[in-house]
Amino acid sequence: MDRIDRKLSNLTCIQCREEYPVQPFRYTCDCGGNLDYVFDYDYINSIWKKENLDKTAMDSVWRYLPLLPVNESPENINIRVGATPLIEFPNIAKELHFNQLYIKDDTRNPSGSLKDRASEIAIQHAKELGDNLLIAASTGNAAASLACLSAFHGVKALILAPDSAPIAKLTQILQYGAKLLPVNGSYDDAFDLSFELTKRYGWYSRNTGINPVMSEGKKTIAFEIAEQLNWISPDQIYVPVGDGCIIGAVYKGFYDLLKLGWISKIPALVAVQSENSAAVVNALESGGEIIPVKSNTIADSISVDLPRDGEKALAAVRHSNGFGILVSDEEILQAQLIMSSSTSIFCEPASAAAYAGMLKAAKENRISNLDNIVVLATGTGLKDISSAAKNVQIPVSVSPNIESAEKSLKELIH
Ligand SMILES: Cc1ncc(COP(=O)(O)O)c(C=O)c1O
Ligand SMILES: [Zn+2]
Repeated sequence: MDRIDRKLSNLTCIQCREEYPVQPFRYTCDCGGNLDYVFDYDYINSIWKKENLDKTAMDSVWRYLPLLPVNESPENINIRVGATPLIEFPNIAKELHFNQLYIKDDTRNPSGSLKDRASEIAIQHAKELGDNLLIAASTGNAAASLACLSAFHGVKALILAPDSAPIAKLTQILQYGAKLLPVNGSYDDAFDLSFELTKRYGWYSRNTGINPVMSEGKKTIAFEIAEQLNWISPDQIYVPVGDGCIIGAVYKGFYDLLKLGWISKIPALVAVQSENSAAVVNALESGGEIIPVKSNTIADSISVDLPRDGEKALAAVRHSNGFGILVSDEEILQAQLIMSSSTSIFCEPASAAAYAGMLKAAKENRISNLDNIVVLATGTGLKDISSAAKNVQIPVSVSPNIESAEKSLKELIH
């Protein structure tokens, strides 16, 4: 267990800039705006140097404790959240006419999605506050992640999920022993209900968009990307966007490193959304504010009417000189298949959306031939087999004899 002694950061409202101390902990500003942690970078710089990071092992998100809003790491970190590979695909980059393609493979986290980064830090934070029941509303992955890591760290998890969430995700939640309250409504309904319960019973909320600890956990993906590239930022990062927490967090991670002087630029962040759930990209294109939509996309994890971290998402794209891009459900399913078969990374549709966005941007010449590109793989395809199955055709079976096999093989292998 590592411990960090330092002045804890403040929380600042991203809308009215009101500041709050970190104790007692609060979720949102009195004005309704989301909060963000503000660190004392001079102090962090005085106690921590990138040269001190153990070069022989990138072991977990806890490697970056001085930049996390908790006092210590858990006793047992062997479940290993984070420290996922950044894999390069030079042949694909060549084909698409840019310099290098990297995929940050966060499907390899314990519960199969990037959300583990946030759950891991949230559980430690809850423990430090003396809470041992965490509640979350989720389209599936955040819930499965909370359930998984709660089982490991010995706390209780209560999950509210739309009853339309993929069966694999609901099953995963129950397999890890969490309590599940399926909601006959949308993700937005489940979200509102869960926050009502937090207010009424004081349970710790692991909800994206109201708990600033979520961004702090997810930002570790940016630290890892920067470190894996020897502190040279890539040019663009493609991020699938639903609530906007991940993209806001990626920005925050690079912002922290820039403030510490460890990198020299923040990469352009590209927000990828489904055409059928486009609130953030619509606002980016109009230059205005977020207007809720009626979402309906096969990519369930990014199917969101009102993005709960929309303001952070807009700021992330605008301040990094990035852009938004929309992809159709058909393009997402096509990209899922192309990605699995050309990179060996099998993603769920929400995650494949980022790859679809990258393919589209390359086609539209929005990537220059000198650019180094990172695509985030945020969730494994095994979470939603029924969508992926729409994309492939299982061949008819053959009789177990060589003649019958050879007859079918003529069609199968040309
Ligand atoms: C696999 C996956 N990708 C992308 C997202 C989108 O993240 P955010 O809602 O923070 O924008 C989610 C969120 O549930 C997800 O589970
Ligand atoms: Zn405010």
